[in-house]
Amino acid sequence: MQETNMNDIDNVRTDIDRYKNIKISRLNPEDWLSLKAQLISLEKRCFHPDIQETERSKRKLLTLEDTIAFVAEKNGKVLGESYGLPIQKYKGIPDSDRITKDYASRGIKAFYHVSLAVLPEYREHGIGSALIGALFAEAKRQGYDVILAHAKEGASLELHNRRGAKVIKSFDNWFGTGNKYWLCEVYIH
Ligand SMILES: CC(C)(COP(=O)(O)OP(=O)(O)OC[C@H]1O[C@@H](n2cnc3c(N)ncnc32)[C@H](O)[C@@H]1OP(=O)(O)O)[C@@H](O)C(=O)NCCC(=O)NCCS
Repeated sequence: MQETNMNDIDNVRTDIDRYKNIKISRLNPEDWLSLKAQLISLEKRCFHPDIQETERSKRKLLTLEDTIAFVAEKNGKVLGESYGLPIQKYKGIPDSDRITKDYASRGIKAFYHVSLAVLPEYREHGIGSALIGALFAEAKRQGYDVILAHAKEGASLELHNRRGAKVIKSFDNWFGTGNKYWLCEVYIH
């Protein structure tokens, strides 16, 4: 994994220094095999069963060439993840074809933020903020104009709002999970 210098990340608010030895690193496709057990466990602990990625779908998402993924880890233990991919490559959202066409017709390069997750016992210490900061900075560096996400009400929506999210639509019962999610759009240029 390629470690990111936190000074290179734009606008990251984090008190991560309080948690010694936590690193935010870029996850590359070849890291999947060594980290898959931890990444699947993270998925199970952080997401409602009805929206969890399977091992197969998660491997596919994390090993695509143009996926951007970061993990937070401490001494080899994965504490959190944030990843996404070009919007035209992600079909798992309502209206994905229409949304993709809409951005394409306006010449907007759009990135879809698939996942932001931190193990429950490590939350509320700035790790989620550092992960979203790393992801957005790299998407910006790669020339994306906008990041789209379905953010769960609460901490996830808050972290997107802090980056200037515009809320487009709400979903009262996201995929039958009973949770409220918001479709939001963050322009990064
Ligand atoms: C979203 C998530 C990754 C945040 O991780 P985290 O490490 O706790 O994030 P941070 O500590 O950097 O920041 C969270 C902020 O949200 C705030 N927050 C928490 N609950 C909140 C709520 N209900 N409403 C508003 N803000 C809230 C926290 O107080 C914190 O703010 P602070 O920086 O002022 O202390 C984590 O909650 C998580 O894994 N949730 C489950 C998975 C999920 O639903 N992901 C999003 C959908 S993809």
